[in-house]
Parts: sequence; structure tokens; C-alpha cells
Amino acid sequence: GKVAIVYGGESAEREISLKSGKAIFTALSEQNVDVDLIDTKETSPLLLKQMGYQRVFIALHGRGGEDGVIQGVLESLGLPYTGSGVLGSALAMDKIRTKQVWQSCQLPTAKYVSVKKGQKIDFSQIMSQLGDVVFVKPAREGSSIGMSRVTDVKMLEEAVSNAFEFDESVLIEQWINGPEYTVSILNGQALPVIKMKTQRSFYDYEAKYLSNSTEYACPCGLSDVDEIYIQKLALDAFEAVGADTWGRIDIMRDADGQFYLLEANTVPGMTEKSLVPMAAKANGLSFSELTMAILQAAK
Ligand code: DAL
Ligand code: MG
Repeated sequence: GKVAIVYGGESAEREISLKSGKAIFTALSEQNVDVDLIDTKETSPLLLKQMGYQRVFIALHGRGGEDGVIQGVLESLGLPYTGSGVLGSALAMDKIRTKQVWQSCQLPTAKYVSVKKGQKIDFSQIMSQLGDVVFVKPAREGSSIGMSRVTDVKMLEEAVSNAFEFDESVLIEQWINGPEYTVSILNGQALPVIKMKTQRSFYDYEAKYLSNSTEYACPCGLSDVDEIYIQKLALDAFEAVGADTWGRIDIMRDADGQFYLLEANTVPGMTEKSLVPMAAKANGLSFSELTMAILQAAK
């Protein structure tokens, strides 16, 4: 039956989603799938069933598309869709709740403090609790939007106020001095690990999508034992938040060799610079094959 790729939408990651959607459209068209692109900024997902679609490929990143909202709509319509369900999507979108679940499962994640808009915040107390360098993140954003790395109390105050522009909940996390690794997951299997290397202070929006100097290593350079360990860690972390089918878990390693889970992505980027397609390729799976495998797992 006819497949709708939902993309675009109204989140801060709209531009990335437009790229992911177009790449998926090209790949599925080449495989002779009857497919259309639907920008949910223009067409309500509530109309997809009456428009004649029988399956939905979710290529939306961020809130409204990756957070359980559209998944709930499609459940109500009885339309099979790609990726995680309502619970896994909603939980993985929220970095604070994700860390709470991981902690409760004894899965390693960096120390943190969460703050809410309107709450009185003791910035110097937080700084002394978390160390000399901290990371500030809106609870529910992607692609490093609204994120900052800070090294003093004044910067922390500014960074938190900036993060509040994106969400009413903000995560303040102990900085793990990298490198950053990512584990892609496809239908219950962890793909080869990728290591990211940037000249910038962290793997931010610029390093992810604009810079030509970001380096990706796959094979990632870890020992077999360590690679297998973080692949297992990623599968457990993905499972713990109720995510399934496909996605990506981001992980940092500190100078002592300890690994820390950063976050779970249930609709990771599918642009030409994106990591899941890179990991799939390392496993002998072309972009088209990867896209077909994700579509076939729609439920
Ligand atoms: N949030 C972006 C799309 C990613 O994780 O790839
Ligand atoms: Mg993310």
C-alpha cells in the first residue's frame, strides 16, 4: 500500500528533518515503493488515513514528531508506523526522565541537576556539585539546539536562561571530557560503533551539520571488548526507555576509560552526514537497504 513519509513539522529540528525525509523519499522511490512526502506543518497527520495512506515512515525529529505525539495519532488512526511507540518516543525525548530511568536500572550516566523555569536556582551550589565544566541542555531538544558547555557560574546562569528559551525543564550535567561515541540500533542489533572527533568545544550543531572538519571513525578504535560492551550498553539503554525497532544511543568516554550514556534518539538523522546510515554502511547495508529495513519493521 501507499506509504507517507512524514517530515518537516514545526520543531527546532525542522531543517534536519526536511533533509532526512528527502533522502528517505529518494531511497524508497528507487526501491519502487509507492511513497509521498508529507510535511506535517502543512498537512495534519489526522488526515493521513482518509488520504489513502496505509503505512507511515516517521522522519520527524524533535517535539511533535519524535516524542510520542504523532505516534499516538497514528495509533488512533490504526496506521502502522516506523520506529518506537508512544511510550518509548515520549521518554527518550526527555533527557532528564531518560537519565532517571537509566539510573534506576544501574546504567551509567553522568551526574546532573535538573531545573525548572520559575524555580529559584542556586547556580554556585550546582557548579560546586558538578565540577569545573558543565553541560546545559533543554530537556527535550535535539541536534544540540539550545545546548552550552560552561566553565563558570556566570556562564551557567546565561546558558540556563538560553536553554529555557527551548523548554521549561533544563538539564545541567557534569561534563565528560570525551571522546563521543554513538551506537546505532536496527531491529534488535547494534551496528558498528562510530567515534566522533571535532575541533570545536563539543559535537554541536555546527560540528554535526555544517563543518567539514568533523571526523568520524568507523571502526571506532575501541578494543573488541569495549566495543561489544558499549553495544550491549546501548541495547540495554534503548530497551530501558521502552524504545524499539531503530534508533541511536550517544555515549561519552572519560579519561579513565569509563563510559557514560548521554541520550537516546528514536528518530535519528537520516541525512547524508548522519550517523545511522554511516554505521549501516559499515555493516554492508546501503542507505536504501537500511530504509527498507526500517519500513518493513513498521507496526
Ligand atoms: N536529533 C538528530 C536528528 C539526531 O539525533 O540525529
Ligand atoms: Mg538527540
